[in-house]
Amino acid sequence: MSTTSSPRPFVYVQDRLAVSGVDLTALAAEYGTPLYVYSADAIRERAQMLQQAFAAAAPALSTTLCYAVKANSSLAILKLLAGMGCGFDIVSGGELERVRRAAPKALGRVVFSGVGKQAWEMDAALEAGILLFNVESEAELELLSARAVALQKTARIALRVNPDVFAETHPYISTGLSAHKFGIAIARAREVYKHAASLPGLSPEGVSVHIGSQIRAVEPFGQALQRVRALVEELRSDGIDIQHVDAGGGFGIEYGNGDFDPAASVASYAAELSRVMQGLDATLLLEPGRFLVAQAGALITNVLYTKQNGDKHFVITDAAMNDLIRPALYQAHHEIWPVQKSERAQQTSDIVGPVCESGDFFARDRETTELRSGDLVALLDAGAYGMSLASHYNTRVHPAEVLVENSSARLIRRRETLDELMAAEIV
Ligand code: LLP
Repeated sequence: MSTTSSPRPFVYVQDRLAVSGVDLTALAAEYGTPLYVYSADAIRERAQMLQQAFAAAAPALSTTLCYAVKANSSLAILKLLAGMGCGFDIVSGGELERVRRAAPKALGRVVFSGVGKQAWEMDAALEAGILLFNVESEAELELLSARAVALQKTARIALRVNPDVFAETHPYISTGLSAHKFGIAIARAREVYKHAASLPGLSPEGVSVHIGSQIRAVEPFGQALQRVRALVEELRSDGIDIQHVDAGGGFGIEYGNGDFDPAASVASYAAELSRVMQGLDATLLLEPGRFLVAQAGALITNVLYTKQNGDKHFVITDAAMNDLIRPALYQAHHEIWPVQKSERAQQTSDIVGPVCESGDFFARDRETTELRSGDLVALLDAGAYGMSLASHYNTRVHPAEVLVENSSARLIRRRETLDELMAAEIV
């Protein structure tokens, strides 16, 4: 497997954008737009990068990647990652069902996170024999105990502790402060573990933490894990046999044009976590989402119209906020590249979708070479939290998705039809 010098698999071949040797213009012609395109090699490369970083930093530490399904829950991508030895971090019965369909053999490597698990979801996960429930409240402990007893199963649990660590990221995706709804305050955790150990049907075996998403610095991860480690030692002295430490996900990427060496940055992440885990004798679970899939994917869209409103120039694409909501929701930056390079002059425009909201933009005051009706553009780094956050707003169908592997493209989700979109409705 080649290690590319660019963190993205999308490269120009004679002025035409291609991914792993496959021409995007041809894909758009075959499958239509908007179209999500992913590189299987790029996803594998990231998984391998993370696995190798931990193997190098701490050869004796057993580490399992539990891919965060929410980042991109496509069945084909789940299957691909299961093939790399990954388990999964799920947050709903729906995501559990995806793992069951895509990678049933990986069910034993599933961790179940989330603040609002329902009885039916617990039942399904107990029946599936998942590895660990990451329990986020005392009320959830009670219900899980009752469901395990009813089904005559034992639920292996971790408490998701809130370490009160600040991590620099967008406020909507920061989770590790006590002001956030996530987890159980670490100061109370010891007491809650004692209670958990007394409840029937529960086996406390792990401690879990997740401080947020798109975090570029490694220190906050180390700080949070240090607090978890101290708790693990206390719990063991209380006779609670902790075997798993789940450090969550959240490792970020570069969305702009800044230097980003994913292998080097993940090596420092691995070094930081390994340093804290040193000598603890526990399995490390990680829940990466974005790092594995974001840069492997792009959303290809066609320019419908351009127009000038006063001083402003607009480029209107056939993709919209319902297909990729990150710019509208988090003011997130995504690089936008023409699929066919041109010699045209540079132009500053707002690149927007057709949805009836002023928030429906992909970029504001962005300089690109002039774009014209019929041009294709690629919204980069759209492999994570792109399709998985897509909605039907404005009664727009979900885009199609293509996976490129071994220089050939395969449709992994066909474009939805309007009949399917309205299928559950009753007139
Ligand atoms: N584990 C837990 C418990 C999580 O809540 C998340 C993400 C992850 C793992 C994976 O985090 P990652 O490695 O992907 O950063 N929609 C937002 C991101 C929301 C993240 C939610 N939780 C975005 O587009 O930036």
